[in-house]
Amino acid sequence: MSNKEYSKYFVKPSIKDARKRKVEDTVVLDFNEYFNLKGFGKGKTYRIETYGCQANEADSEKIRGILEALEFTQSETLEHADIILLNTCAIRENAENRVFGELGRLKKFKRNNPNMILGVCGCMPQEEKVVNKILEQVHHVDLVFGTHNIYKLPEYLETVILSKERVIEVFSEQGSIIENMPKIRENNRKAWVNIMYGCDEFCTYCIVPYTRGKERSRDKNHIITEVKDLIKEGYKEVTLLGQNVNSYGRDFKDKSYKFAQLLEELQKLPIERIRFTTSHPKDFDLETVKVIATGGNIMPYIHLPVQSGSNEILKRMNRKYTKESYMQLVNWIYEYIPNASLTTDIIVGFPGETEEQFNMTIELVKECRFEGAYTFVYSSREGTPAASYEDKLSLEDKKKRLYKLNEVVNDGYLIGNERFANKEVKVLVDGVSKNNDEILAGYTENQKLVNFRGPVELIGEIVKVKITDVKTWSLTGDLIE
Ligand code: 5AD
Ligand code: SF4
Repeated sequence: MSNKEYSKYFVKPSIKDARKRKVEDTVVLDFNEYFNLKGFGKGKTYRIETYGCQANEADSEKIRGILEALEFTQSETLEHADIILLNTCAIRENAENRVFGELGRLKKFKRNNPNMILGVCGCMPQEEKVVNKILEQVHHVDLVFGTHNIYKLPEYLETVILSKERVIEVFSEQGSIIENMPKIRENNRKAWVNIMYGCDEFCTYCIVPYTRGKERSRDKNHIITEVKDLIKEGYKEVTLLGQNVNSYGRDFKDKSYKFAQLLEELQKLPIERIRFTTSHPKDFDLETVKVIATGGNIMPYIHLPVQSGSNEILKRMNRKYTKESYMQLVNWIYEYIPNASLTTDIIVGFPGETEEQFNMTIELVKECRFEGAYTFVYSSREGTPAASYEDKLSLEDKKKRLYKLNEVVNDGYLIGNERFANKEVKVLVDGVSKNNDEILAGYTENQKLVNFRGPVELIGEIVKVKITDVKTWSLTGDLIE
């Protein structure tokens, strides 16, 4: 398809519009009112490659749902698929480079099969520079759409396939909520459940508020119904998803219904495990800590991104909490939930971070007894405030900080696992181990990976395992009959 042949769909993103936040009610749309073209995909196949966070994984399940509702089927191989969609991530530059590398690799498939449709969706298309690059340099892409208009995929495909015209449609808007999207879930025991979309935090390094629109909470009844349906289908674990789950309900008229209340209500449902991600230290209140402390099906595992241990850096990141208030929250968590496992996210080399400020992060990591952390070198994102901050430290020095931090973080992984030596743990069995198909693998309530010998029939069950060996990244144990 040449660069020139555009369809009626040609809308490029605008970061200026994406930045806007207006106080108005969130529009809730019903997918069924938009869905037509059933059967359009009969006899054709698709493949989706997903990059990035759980929000993208959850979106890919919706995209698969729509494609299968159109009667496309999943292709065994990428090479023979009629449609390939890359659901992309914009959080750091290397995530984007991976996608452009993959688009280059896919070019030969397209050459072999010119009728193949190649699409790019997710967070990257929400960036002006990415769409411009695709328009100028990646001519074999047929379809580009963003995070706000997944529900329009059927009509886009109709245009791309029947009219053989290129579709580019990316909205830079606050976003709505689309209920009743069909979903084909990747896993039949563990499910993602969106409780909210978007983000209003505007941390100065982060692109998410621009790519995913304003924060909007789903009606609790829609969430509860989804979880009840999952229970009927035999699901054992749900993970509640939001960029900042602790601000759930902030956009409701009824300000008394918040995340703590939602958790309490979901806790009463007969689902074995409830998890949630991601938490924001600014909004995580004692009330929520107390609800988690009541245990039951709420898992004692909290991912609580701290980003930095320096108040000056936290301020410039616009995180709106201090090291002291973070520690207060951590202390509450350990006080009320003594068995809790805490993990975090940390950025090193934020513009202007001094050696001293970096060392404050190291100290904080030790103090918090994190049992794991995702650690990143700061990556400048065009259009975010931090992109214009002075950044003198070389990448080499930033990487040195990362390695130093990772050593401390890795000690935390091991110490966290050692807590479970010789203990009995409950494991939700995911499947066979990556390295040995005679060994089963699954996660404990504290989200520790356990390998043990057992029959494949146990996949999908929650079983008891006695831990016999502890390593940094996993536990080994014996099944208790
Ligand atoms: N550079 C590096 N890391 C980032 N994160 C978000 N934006 C950036 C960036 N520009 C990290 C944060 C966040 C996690 C999902 O990704 O630590 O918590
Ligand atoms: Fe990004 Fe901050 Fe929102 Fe998380 S809370 S998605 S880091 S802006």
